[in-house]
Amino acid sequence: MSQPKVFVTRVIPDAGLDLLRPHVELDIWPDELPPDYETLRARSATVDGLLCLLSDRIDAALIEGSPRLKVISTMAVGFDNIDIQAATARGIPVGHTPGALTEATADFAFALLMAAARRITEAERYVRAGRWKTWGPMLLMGQDVYGATLGIIGLGRIGQAVARRARGFDMRVIYYGGSDEDAARAIGAERRSLEDVLAESDFLSLHCPLTPETRGLINADALRRMKPTSILINTARGAVVDHAALYQALRDGWIAGAALDVTDPEPIPLDSPLLTLDNCVIAPHIASSTERTRARIARMAAENLLAGLRGERLPHCANPAVYGQ
Ligand code: DGY
Repeated sequence: MSQPKVFVTRVIPDAGLDLLRPHVELDIWPDELPPDYETLRARSATVDGLLCLLSDRIDAALIEGSPRLKVISTMAVGFDNIDIQAATARGIPVGHTPGALTEATADFAFALLMAAARRITEAERYVRAGRWKTWGPMLLMGQDVYGATLGIIGLGRIGQAVARRARGFDMRVIYYGGSDEDAARAIGAERRSLEDVLAESDFLSLHCPLTPETRGLINADALRRMKPTSILINTARGAVVDHAALYQALRDGWIAGAALDVTDPEPIPLDSPLLTLDNCVIAPHIASSTERTRARIARMAAENLLAGLRGERLPHCANPAVYGQ
């Protein structure tokens, strides 16, 4: 019997590919850059399974134009790039990777928080540019992390993991969004209104999914409510923040700094005014990028895909409605 055909939209860690190889006929996109949308649509049109990344737009047209498709598996926890409604309407389960990247992402969010608070990337540029002439009593002064208030938008798995790290720095943790009150209590996080979290946080870290409700949540109005000494950290999705407003906020001192692992769009255009600012740290969406974590995510994505091809319930399904729930 012939094997099911699968399109993998980039070379992913062997931990995932090795699981797939014995069971499927693989078509792997070999380039560093993703396939363009038309290519993605054409390649998806003839396969039984699609293993995609967060940079692939899996919209209704693609889903409807792929008659053989039995399963979509994304190598990410976020699935805002996939038209979940269209997949569910077609009875296609969508796999994702919750839990696998929680700790690595929380580590990175905290690294960004520290980098922005203590101006580490700016200091590094200062040294390399030969500007370090002497010990300066007011040189590159930053913000205290220890004892500060951390606001978390979205106290889910990753938000909670960041809050646990904050305890080691004796931070007060407040949050908006997130339904697990027991978990919040266990880590000593206090629920607040969005307005209070904006107004009281010294550091505001975003951990919500991108949905119609959270798109542009951190806009000019929100940024104006923050303290002038505060720092925004985004490891969620770029579009949760209005970048034009963020630029104005950083330039005009509404807030002291920002550290972004995610931007809108990605990659950030080289002419983005944010790149001209010293008080904005920007990384290329690498919060989950440790060898062990990326291997784990690839394995989970492969397991979801194989389950879907076998007609079994996906271990981690983003649209359980497809199973009537
Ligand atoms: C995800 O899995 O959604 C992350 O953004 C990838 O790092």
